[in-house]
Amino acid sequence: MLPKTIEWKENKVIILDQRRLPEEEVYLECKDVYAVAEAIKTLAIRGAPAIGIAAAMGTALGALGIEKRDFTSFYRELLSICHTLEQTRPTAINLHWALQRMKVICETNKEANVEALKELLVTEALAMLEEDIEINKRIGEAGKDLIRDGDTILTHCNAGALATGGYGTALGVIRRAWEQGKGIKVVATETRPLLQGARLTAWELKREGIPVTLITDHMAGYLMKRGEINLIIVGADRIACNGDVANKIGTYTLAVLAKENDIPFYVAAPLSTFDQSINRGEEIPIEERGEEEVIAPWGKRIAPMGIGVRNPAFDITPHRYVTAIVTERGVIRAPFKETLKRMWAEGNGK
Ligand code: MRU
Repeated sequence: MLPKTIEWKENKVIILDQRRLPEEEVYLECKDVYAVAEAIKTLAIRGAPAIGIAAAMGTALGALGIEKRDFTSFYRELLSICHTLEQTRPTAINLHWALQRMKVICETNKEANVEALKELLVTEALAMLEEDIEINKRIGEAGKDLIRDGDTILTHCNAGALATGGYGTALGVIRRAWEQGKGIKVVATETRPLLQGARLTAWELKREGIPVTLITDHMAGYLMKRGEINLIIVGADRIACNGDVANKIGTYTLAVLAKENDIPFYVAAPLSTFDQSINRGEEIPIEERGEEEVIAPWGKRIAPMGIGVRNPAFDITPHRYVTAIVTERGVIRAPFKETLKRMWAEGNGK
């Protein structure tokens, strides 16, 4: 059974605390928007689509607590709630996309009374969760033929059920190929510094019986060179109009190595991950996290005090390294800019 990443229950947001995996399956009960914001910030819930859903549910939760009776004052408080959520993590565009959807619900229902508006906001957040699972299944379907029987697939970080409403994007494609009966194997990179590959991807795949082998990040090139990897598939936090991809730190290194070794490099992402306002990867804001994640992971100091530390959480993979992007509308290949422009023009973007 797939893990339940996030749920709405009796006007609370229930979040599987991913910081505690794989040791413990503990659920956080978020009773207000601040608890949801904290859960996003501290990576109790993470992964671009899951962050979007959490932000939408956090907004709905915050809305339920607003006491103002007139639209203008209600909406002013709602915008402040959205602002709190917007500050949590800067790179995943799904967060902004989801909050925008919640704002549109208010703006298009100005005539509704505040109680009805609150209900509409809850309904919209729940719809986002359901839609996301459906979208991931469509991504899986669209991408399944990229994987052949017997393939060994390398994936980085966690772009699975845990990173989404359910099923996953990159792991959704792998899952679908597995459901088809293909004899596949997955190599998961541990994904320093927060070990999403080791703790989450390995946990998720093992639960389902999909064969998974764990490697530390810098072992990937060795395996590629030896011909032990047939393809790479990862998720994305934001994709620019030219196809440049922001994803977990280390993705760029893998993509360059894939090209060097003639290995296809695929990205799986919903259309909500594309940022139509950004032309190139360099414009995507990259989150820099605290030094303790690098210098003292899980409270254990592994380097001397008084040194410099960098901790960018994401990097940009230029589109020239991306073989194709798998979306719920099908597989997009280079030239991405032209294909995406055509897609938006045809109104297929959302
Ligand atoms: O810092 P994280 O764990 O939120 O980073 C997650 C990733 O980089 C994922 O690959 C990305 O969000 C896609 S999830 C379907």
